[in-house]
Amino acid sequence: TAPRPIRLNVNGCECDVPASSDTALLHVLRNDLALNGPKYGCGLGECGACTVLIDGVAARSCVIPVRAAQGRAVTTLEGLGTRQQPGSTQQAFIDCQAAQCGYCLNGMIMTVEALLRRNPNPSEEALRNELHHNLCRCGTHVEIMQAALRAVR
Ligand code: FES
Repeated sequence: TAPRPIRLNVNGCECDVPASSDTALLHVLRNDLALNGPKYGCGLGECGACTVLIDGVAARSCVIPVRAAQGRAVTTLEGLGTRQQPGSTQQAFIDCQAAQCGYCLNGMIMTVEALLRRNPNPSEEALRNELHHNLCRCGTHVEIMQAALRAVR
């Protein structure tokens, strides 16, 4: 039998997805809702590429079953702004040209965004601590830190 649809609130929209409840949130976002901001990196909760906000808090969507997101507000990279009107954290990363391959940037941006929502004026050390567990295999950390500092508003 087909699984009962799961109701999610993603980027302010209510939607029903026909996923089984233990499917990883990341796969539902990407495959059912075509939200490809969050990336699949390690699938183990270790790299941060899949980061989304759940009720404003950074969360690794590759290890969160979709049922855990029911009744909560999920925000993806797409929810921060658009190509025409990027959000302020996104704009800071654009201004600093912080991408090399760009694969990790979803996680970097969402992690900085989550920090700024709970602390609008973090120190450089606080930013570094927050990004410590987000991996970038290109080694673009200098530009990423410049962008994170620029995003502090
Ligand atoms: Fe989720 Fe690496 S893909 S933490």
